Amino acid sequence: MKNYENLDIEIKDGVYWLTLNRPEARNALDASMLNEIDQAIDEAEQEENVKVIIIQGAGDKSFAAGADIKQLNARKPLEALVPGMQGLYNKIENCKKVTVAAVSGYALGGGCELALACDIRIAAKNAKFGLPELNLGIIPGAGGTQRLSRIIGKGRALDMILTGKIIDGEEAERIGLATYYTSEKELAAKAEAVAAEISKKGPVAIQLAKFAVHKGYDIDEGTAMWIEKLSQAVAFGTEDKKEGTSAFIEKRKATFKNR
Ligand code: CAA
Repeated sequence: MKNYENLDIEIKDGVYWLTLNRPEARNALDASMLNEIDQAIDEAEQEENVKVIIIQGAGDKSFAAGADIKQLNARKPLEALVPGMQGLYNKIENCKKVTVAAVSGYALGGGCELALACDIRIAAKNAKFGLPELNLGIIPGAGGTQRLSRIIGKGRALDMILTGKIIDGEEAERIGLATYYTSEKELAAKAEAVAAEISKKGPVAIQLAKFAVHKGYDIDEGTAMWIEKLSQAVAFGTEDKKEGTSAFIEKRKATFKNR
């Protein structure tokens, strides 16, 4: 495992824990941190025993307070066209491992968008989600305008984006922004439990299910159904399918092998 300056990494029970570790700046995502997250995702992808990546923030105050505003201040128009944070979050969404954001404290701007790019969001009671970019004279630029409306609906997304309002964990769960809501104390345990449930599944099926949901979401239903069919055809060709169905018939636990 690499050594990172702004991340803490731990692999435990098939889970890659990625902790954003710049609490003195509320885990604001500067260029070097984004570069390290990119490398960490590559690293997690290559870990055969890892099925789930849990992203969390160090300290109890913040998941991530967004893009580093000091660096943003100097940025020129054409610099917004590089893949940057949006590209990284697309990579996270398309990652073959399942990604879980365990959010305690502030998840603002690019921090909220990072959580939105994950497959599952678990919010602690003290979570504070918001897209306050308009306060800075810019707009959410790391997938926020698109993913938030797809997740909570266009009306609510426009309200959050245009007012810049910040919502807590309970509200986030109520409107579907967060998948689960828990106490701060239980956050890591809840993330662990969700990861453990997912980890019982076969990695090929996990990857195909993610692929079918994400790729099918933005296109017409008929074509999306074909994505599902073709993904299922791939699953039908795996040893894991034989193992999973045989295990059920033989009344035993399946042992998936990723092939
Ligand atoms: N960028 C750079 N530094 C940040 C930061 C950010 N996004 N958020 C916090 N910090 C720094 C502060 O400058 C401060 O540093 P100093 O101690 O050197 O002054 C330190 O973190 C602690 O911050 P506060 O004193 O403000 O802490 P707080 O607990 O009172 O407030 C906060 C926390 C509500 C998160 C507040 O810091 C804040 O509003 N931060 C900015 C949030 C924001 O606007 N995010 C959107 C960024 S733009 C974006 O993300 C664009 C995009 O779409 C990609």
